[in-house]
Amino acid sequence: MDDIANPQRYLERMSKPLQEKLKIAKYIPSGANSLLDVGCADGTVTLALADMFPEMKFVGIDLNADFVNMARERIGERKNVSFEHGYLRERLSNPEKFDVVLFCSVLHEFYSYGEGISTIVKALSDAHEILNKGGVLILRDMILYDYADRSELWVEEIKRKVTTKEEIRHLLVDFETIFGPIKTIKQLNHFLLKYMYEDNWEREGKENYVPVSFEQYDQIFKLLGMQVLFQRSSTIPYLKEKWTSDFGFSEAELESFRSTGIIVARK
Ligand SMILES: C[S@@+](CC[C@H](N)C(=O)[O-])C[C@H]1O[C@@H](n2cnc3c(N)ncnc32)[C@H](O)[C@@H]1O
Repeated sequence: MDDIANPQRYLERMSKPLQEKLKIAKYIPSGANSLLDVGCADGTVTLALADMFPEMKFVGIDLNADFVNMARERIGERKNVSFEHGYLRERLSNPEKFDVVLFCSVLHEFYSYGEGISTIVKALSDAHEILNKGGVLILRDMILYDYADRSELWVEEIKRKVTTKEEIRHLLVDFETIFGPIKTIKQLNHFLLKYMYEDNWEREGKENYVPVSFEQYDQIFKLLGMQVLFQRSSTIPYLKEKWTSDFGFSEAELESFRSTGIIVARK
């Protein structure tokens, strides 16, 4: 995995939308006893969930050793949380199973720094193996629908509002060099999710934020014999405001774009 140029900044950015991320708490089934948080970073989400569900046991795992050390230092008096350094796959040698496996804002990184879709399929298969029967997998990430890739109809008009912004044009040029010319709403949506990270563009520019569509996740869960209980696509209010103020999008134009997907699937 690429080095993170400014780890502190990266972690701050991750923890900013904490309240938004904690909405996943409502998908933790009542009666669940344990949760594995895959890609826990410095433990911000894990620790907040551990405080909300003090009777449950939480394990966070991350392949960044520095982040895991930071997470461990933040445990304090809590008895229901621990953190491990390593790959999810290494967990397979441990017979312990979990009632919930959480992937919060991580799978696009698995894709970008791993071997693409095969890394995603492996990670979800590993999670399936680690889950107790009846346990749930909660996935939150930037996820778009494939059908947005066919919506070329009014993309040019909306794109014009983006290209007229002189100060981000160089990012757009770079983005199109990496991912190809923006011709669909889905591609434009991808750019809109990242143009604000210029300070870390070296890393963020080439990361594929939306590598796996809802339709593809459906296929993977079907293959794994998991039942998709819930699926939701939305836009966090902060981004709606930012896109409106940066580009003057109308309500109807805003409606074309999404920032966040949640999928809950049961084994
Ligand atoms: C974007 S952060 C998300 C952190 C946290 N889940 C949150 O939502 O705030 C992604 C984390 O996934 C970790 N990560 C990436 N690929 C991983 C892998 N294959 N196994 C474990 N962790 C991984 C990174 O080290 C990073 O800490």
